[in-house]
Amino acid sequence: MTDYGKFNSDDVGSFFRSPVREIFKRVDLNKIYSMAGGYPSADTFPLEDIRELSSVVIDKYGAKAFQYGATQGTPELREVISKRYGVPVGRVQVTTSSQQGIDVCTRVFVNPGEVILTSQPTYLGALQSFRSYRADVHGVAGGGYEAEIQKVLSEGKKIKFIYSIPDFQNPSGETLTLGEREEMVALARKYDFLIVEDSPYREIRYEGETLPTIYSLAPERTLHLGSFSKIFAPGFRLGWIIAAPELLDPIYVCKQSLDLCPPIFDQYLAAEFMDSGRLDANLARSREIYRAKRDVMLEALEENMPEGVSWTHPEGGLFLFLTLPEGFDVVDFYDKALDAGVAYVAGNFFRTDGLGRNTMRLNFSFMTAQRIREGVALLARLIKEELTIDKG
Ligand SMILES: Cc1ncc(COP(=O)(O)O)c(C=O)c1O
Repeated sequence: MTDYGKFNSDDVGSFFRSPVREIFKRVDLNKIYSMAGGYPSADTFPLEDIRELSSVVIDKYGAKAFQYGATQGTPELREVISKRYGVPVGRVQVTTSSQQGIDVCTRVFVNPGEVILTSQPTYLGALQSFRSYRADVHGVAGGGYEAEIQKVLSEGKKIKFIYSIPDFQNPSGETLTLGEREEMVALARKYDFLIVEDSPYREIRYEGETLPTIYSLAPERTLHLGSFSKIFAPGFRLGWIIAAPELLDPIYVCKQSLDLCPPIFDQYLAAEFMDSGRLDANLARSREIYRAKRDVMLEALEENMPEGVSWTHPEGGLFLFLTLPEGFDVVDFYDKALDAGVAYVAGNFFRTDGLGRNTMRLNFSFMTAQRIREGVALLARLIKEELTIDKG
């Protein structure tokens, strides 16, 4: 047996490997200056709370905490989410993380060849899901959605949803203004499609004013995805979808075949954590940790980067986005950087058109402040060298 590929379904041809995971395979993250992944800082994981709450959950629920449970999620967790975000409990579906939320929305709403609109650049894991179902993904730069919508419709194609990360976007770190959110809602209503609002970073804001969710502006057609990964710990693999019950129903049925139910013990624990005020206390501490790291990265960029390099100033989240002079190729430069001990993700991986080879995503949550300073200084030195070689 040599040709195992012949057993693959047609969908497999559209799968693509995450370049971020490929980087992780090549190097030990703790040995290099890694600004590549989106790992939260382990310092934000509340180990003592988890130890205590594990006993609380076992005392309270016993063996039930390890049994199969409801496909919608445990009533306890749905109740707590409903209370925290001010939505009816019938509008809450627990997911096995927000990546599953993205995947299940695509599976349930999009046929092969139907259109998903997204910002350009956008989250790589979402592109992986969209492509795996053979959706026709249109990345739109700079908010020019209406022109793209008209073009797509004139070609006789059907638009199913806009996928948006309105708060501290991955990878750009940028946030949509209220006007941009309202415009998106107006377009969705005018042309009758859904909005998938992916919000894993929303509560990690360091400054500026909290803006209304897209869901709050259009609860009838928005699926709001939340996640415990960045506000608690990603290892629990827990998230949620808030949406109209009619939209959640096919997702619920789909999840019956996907995973039967989200992890029960994790849900009981997350519900205790969220309801007891511990989540808010931990979040306040996490925000301070991340704000300090963001500031260190911004300072280090300011101090070290040569002229012609610019970057975004995120008000929250875990990433910022660097733009190098036109013609600089971060893909070609990658091996050199990795050999010198510094990793980033090339910006073109987050795009649908393969452009943006002069951009890169930098993560500031994972490393210590000291290592961020050193890593940025090293990256800047390598970029300066490269720019000098290019000129010479
Ligand atoms: C925008 C966005 N959505 C979804 C996810 C997936 O998060 P999780 O599945 O851990 O909730 C990530 C992870 O980095 C992300 O950046």
